[in-house]
Amino acid sequence: MTRRLLIAGNWKMNLSLAASLELAEGLKKAAAGINNVDIAVCPPSVYVQPVAAALKGSNIGVGAQNVYFEKEGAFTGEISVGMLKDVGCQYVILGHSERRHILGESSEIVNVKTHAVLAAGLIPIVCVGELLKEREAGTTELVIRKQFDGSFSGVAADDMKKCVIAYEPVWAIGTGKVATPEQAEEVHAAIRKMIEKNYNKEVAESVRIQYGGSVNDKNAKEILAKPNVDGALVGGASLKVDPFLGIIKSA
Ligand code: PGA
Repeated sequence: MTRRLLIAGNWKMNLSLAASLELAEGLKKAAAGINNVDIAVCPPSVYVQPVAAALKGSNIGVGAQNVYFEKEGAFTGEISVGMLKDVGCQYVILGHSERRHILGESSEIVNVKTHAVLAAGLIPIVCVGELLKEREAGTTELVIRKQFDGSFSGVAADDMKKCVIAYEPVWAIGTGKVATPEQAEEVHAAIRKMIEKNYNKEVAESVRIQYGGSVNDKNAKEILAKPNVDGALVGGASLKVDPFLGIIKSA
């Protein structure tokens, strides 16, 4: 089974409108003709529409960094899956550690959002990952198993196959401390076993598991070469054309 790698840029709360469009145009040109990997960028929600418009007809998809799970109504400040779809979104990052740890988002919330995103026909990129103290206490797998079970509760096998999981050790995000390829592979293989246990081998072999946390154009090749690493979710290094292109080319 060969899984198509997905290289996704998580722009977080960065860039102006002008800088977002410049980056999108730059990537569109630079990545033209690269068809052996899936590529996506996830701008701040207010820039999703202009960036999707700029990337229309290219090989680069667009994702959002969060969504609300209700269809519509009195939910001040929130955005629905339908709205994201309306403006050209294909992916939605869910349960990023910054949302789990800064904004108190639980796996239960991630779960209802996962269901909403799948129901709309979009692809959820569900993030899981341990804190440094959890790794040091030897509880990495336990923490991830809880996040996995909670986030995907009630998701049917056919839907699970469409999901993307991003393993992002919290201690590696934005710190320059990347997990070694071996550390990443160990957890990715463990996640694939969890999928097999809850579903079956076919589903486990279909799900793409990205690595995220200080990925750059220098360390990407070695990490992406691991058999259970199916792409990268890239923060800092996705904010400029050259490093992001370097990571895409490493894939
Ligand atoms: P980073 O962020 O590449 O800047 O470490 C990754 C992420 O949080 O998705």
